[in-house]
Amino acid sequence: MCGIVAYIGSKPARELLLEGLKRLEYRGYDSAGIAMLNGGLHVARTMGRVSGLEEMVIDDEAFNGTIGIAHTRWATHGEPSERNAHPQCDDGKKGHGIRIVHNGIIENYASLKTYLKERGHEFTSDTDTEVLAHLIGELYNGNLETAVQAALREVTGAYAIAVVCEEEPDVLVVARKGSPLIVGVGKDEYVVASDSSAIVAHTTQAFLLDDETVARLTRDSFRTTTVENVELTPEIQELEYSLEQIELGDFDHFMLKEIYEQPATLKTCMQGRVNAIDGNIVLGGVAEFAEQLSKAKRILLLGQGTALHAAMIGEYLFEGLAGIPTEVEFASEFRYRNPIVEEGTIAIAVSQSGETADTLAAVQEAKRRGAITLGAVNVVGSTISRDTDAGVYLRVGPEIGVASTKAFIGQVAVLTMLATYVGRRHHLGKELMTELLAALEAMPMHIEKVLGESDHILQITKGVVDRDNWLFLGRGTNYPVALEGALKLKEISYIHAEGMPAAEMKHGPIALIDKGMPVVIVATKGSQYEKVIGNMEEVRSRGGHIIAVATEGDTAIQKHCDDVIYVSDVPEPLQPLLSVIPLQLIAYHAAVLRGKDVDKPRNLAKSVTVE
Ligand code: M6R
Repeated sequence: MCGIVAYIGSKPARELLLEGLKRLEYRGYDSAGIAMLNGGLHVARTMGRVSGLEEMVIDDEAFNGTIGIAHTRWATHGEPSERNAHPQCDDGKKGHGIRIVHNGIIENYASLKTYLKERGHEFTSDTDTEVLAHLIGELYNGNLETAVQAALREVTGAYAIAVVCEEEPDVLVVARKGSPLIVGVGKDEYVVASDSSAIVAHTTQAFLLDDETVARLTRDSFRTTTVENVELTPEIQELEYSLEQIELGDFDHFMLKEIYEQPATLKTCMQGRVNAIDGNIVLGGVAEFAEQLSKAKRILLLGQGTALHAAMIGEYLFEGLAGIPTEVEFASEFRYRNPIVEEGTIAIAVSQSGETADTLAAVQEAKRRGAITLGAVNVVGSTISRDTDAGVYLRVGPEIGVASTKAFIGQVAVLTMLATYVGRRHHLGKELMTELLAALEAMPMHIEKVLGESDHILQITKGVVDRDNWLFLGRGTNYPVALEGALKLKEISYIHAEGMPAAEMKHGPIALIDKGMPVVIVATKGSQYEKVIGNMEEVRSRGGHIIAVATEGDTAIQKHCDDVIYVSDVPEPLQPLLSVIPLQLIAYHAAVLRGKDVDKPRNLAKSVTVE
């Protein structure tokens, strides 16, 4: 995924575009570029971060314009380099001064490139985007909007694009299919971006472009059409994000800010939904499917990465609390199998962004095969939220840190609410329901308490941070927590870590354990506690350095481990919401201690909108 920002209006576009790019940099940061129309076309591109681009243009008068497009890239086609950076252009010799920024992938770029080469086009980059720029140039006949529409009719794949043309210096054309693009509407100005964080500082009025829709923007007008040129009337809405939500404030990193937001975001996620006094759950978003949910024969949970780990916890919850057979699938695998989707299946797509390409394709596949589809999604209006039959939003606010934290808590909370909502219509008794909901309502307070242990967790992490191989172990619902702990550590500190069910260790991975190897074991009180203690002893006897996450008051555990982090005593099905917090903090501290760029880990982007 990359970041797009574009502007047309009367303000200085350079500052606005650079500021927008910085806000979008978490979407990709291999290279960056800007194109400005200001008495001619001016372009700057560079490898690396937006700060480098800023240095190139900040004092250059050529970039004093009021219309421009900009991009921060996460490479898919073509290595990260200046020539592959966006904006890409149409043919230098016979072109019309077309510049384009693009998110997504043009799947048929190879055949289009061959066609264009036959017509004399010469290419200077390895990107699919340049092919699209040339195609628009080839079809250009004095009207940029028409040329973009015509080009997009020839294209297969996904795109969000912003295009300018030297021959039409007061026109900005944008379009999307399968990759998000939002048009912010100000007074005689438009700010377009691939997510609202680049818009809210300027306006909170915006419309979301639908798939295969093109918008032509001038300073005081806009027109939206399909790629077939059928005129549309988009609905202008109020953006929900506030500026404060996307600013760092007093924190050093967005990841840390988001870890600390979790008590508050969990409250917001449960607000108006969890009612412990009545022992009731209200989920307006899925109310029209209440009957199908209660009668569901099978639940299918789809996701990738952290969202998949949340889904794995969901499996325990749906089976344990609602008694419904449940399966979890990597969305990327599900979409290419020949999956059996029986009648009465409810497929739930779990996703922070609501744009992950594999998760989207998997849930579409489940729908094609007859499933009712629901979303457990954070970003309002995202493609998955729009493509599913209904859903429950996470309501955790914008997540900027590439390492997902508060969205994980939101995903687990939503799946817990869904499982109890369905469970109550099955065999989940009122007493247990009330007990669970009361514990759920108290969870923000318990999370707050773990956050108070951050310094202690930092000291523990310091003791082992130089080790390059770690294990994370857990059982039951704490097994996916172990997976999540390992993922967090590897993605931001580049330490090799593996998560697994504690019992699986004996079947091979135990060979890895040598003196001082850090092994993080989630050993909270529950049905498998004794067995986990057994696993700890297996590690200890081989010299591993054990960091246990244990239940408050369990002093006996200290003799089995080297370090212990206590969390409150909560019912077993809810433990993941708490036991994951120390693991998030371990990963954060390890990355900072190793001097890594926590919010922009190498090779990653916030969401993966390509296969
Ligand atoms: O936006 P999504 O929740 O669909 O994203 C899924 C994964 O790409 C995401 O959770 C990824 O694993 C995170 N970087 C993990 O921290």
